[in-house]
Amino acid sequence: TGTMKVNEKGHLEIGGVDTVDLAREFGTPLYILDEAEFRKNCREYYHSFTEKRPDSLAIYAGKTLLTTAICRLVDEEGLGLDVVSGGELYTALKANFPMHKVFFHGNNKSPEEIKLGVEAGVGRFVVDNLYELYLLNDIAHAQKTRQAILLRISPGIEAHTHEYIKTGQIDSKFGFPIETGQAIDAVIRALELENIELKGFHCHIGSQIFELDSFAHTVEVMTEFMAEVYKNTGFMTQELDLGGGLGIYYTAGDNPPAVDALAEVIFNTLENQCQKLGLKVPRVVVEPGRSIAGPAGSTLYTIGAIKDIPGIRTYVAVDGGMGDNPRPALYQAKYEAIVANKANAKPVKLVSIAGKCCESGDMLIWDIELAEIKPGDLLLISNTGAYNYTMSMNYNRLPRPAMVLVGGGRAELIVRRETYDDLLRHDLIPVHLKNRK
Ligand code: LLP
Repeated sequence: TGTMKVNEKGHLEIGGVDTVDLAREFGTPLYILDEAEFRKNCREYYHSFTEKRPDSLAIYAGKTLLTTAICRLVDEEGLGLDVVSGGELYTALKANFPMHKVFFHGNNKSPEEIKLGVEAGVGRFVVDNLYELYLLNDIAHAQKTRQAILLRISPGIEAHTHEYIKTGQIDSKFGFPIETGQAIDAVIRALELENIELKGFHCHIGSQIFELDSFAHTVEVMTEFMAEVYKNTGFMTQELDLGGGLGIYYTAGDNPPAVDALAEVIFNTLENQCQKLGLKVPRVVVEPGRSIAGPAGSTLYTIGAIKDIPGIRTYVAVDGGMGDNPRPALYQAKYEAIVANKANAKPVKLVSIAGKCCESGDMLIWDIELAEIKPGDLLLISNTGAYNYTMSMNYNRLPRPAMVLVGGGRAELIVRRETYDDLLRHDLIPVHLKNRK
């Protein structure tokens, strides 16, 4: 994907940089971010939404992959940013991201996080529950400001995706359910609060979704809710945020729809519905994450132990695993891989790729055909840009990998590799254990 190609040495190249050189210079495991691909994916959203309807906005979901450098890329491409924690917000602040284009999400924002957001001047709070609504009103009051918000609505839609990444169904920790009357109740309350300015509604039905029908259906449910709100309160929705969720290619059989097809379905359904229901067409916001970062990232590993259990399976172990990519262990997520230093060699053997953590479940890929390999060869797993680095961990005290941004034949470090000392940075030894031999 992206700018990948095979050079005359038979090595895989990304952004004009030889992956063998990357491994030599930066070590492995290594997260590689293809700048051109990341920008292209941002641009597709910009073209399909903001250029077509200048009041609409695509905000990149920072939970997918966020660093200060990535904030800069997102800003340069004209997108806003969705943050879900004080940490993500702080990252955006430090990168000088324009705060009016930041949407602050989260189902349990702490008073400190709310204060940080109000002080920073984030464009929208996406309010998840009544506790937050009143807390936010109080904090905005103390700061003598009125905070613009969206209410997060739980539309009661089941998207066809993994159980843990479904978010729109009624039995969910997120948002105000429509069915129970809690959504309309929240609207009435929000409209009464002095330091809250209700702009509209948000919903998000899940992630890695391939059926555009799911989005059309969401628009239908949300516009019906908007009509109910108008009838009951006289409030006309100005803004409708439909969340993220567009799927990407991981392995054969994944056929994700194009971004402009998504935009068309959203705009068409919205216009029809608004006309039918007598509503003003609201400003549209979408929150793509995976479909921007996923295809732009890959992870480079060095192959170590190769264990052949005759007649059963060949385990090929790499120098990373669930620490840098917990998705296969967590969601049975599937990936493709290639031997990066022999990218033209024919696949000859069925193997399975193991990580190096002390867990049998630490397998990155079950059953993949690879070229002939030996220890020291490089393995590249593709499409790891989304929810890998951000979900990485130090299990077994493995340092987290570095991340390089590649493009135009250059590679620049954007996240330093963790050292053993980084791992000890927060360790303390109590006095009574000090001075011992
Ligand atoms: N907006 C909201 C409110 C969300 O909860 C999410 C993702 C997004 C936007 C971005 O969705 P995307 O375009 O990336 O599908 N860790 C899981 C995915 C969790 C998604 C959480 N919310 C995984 O690795 O598959």
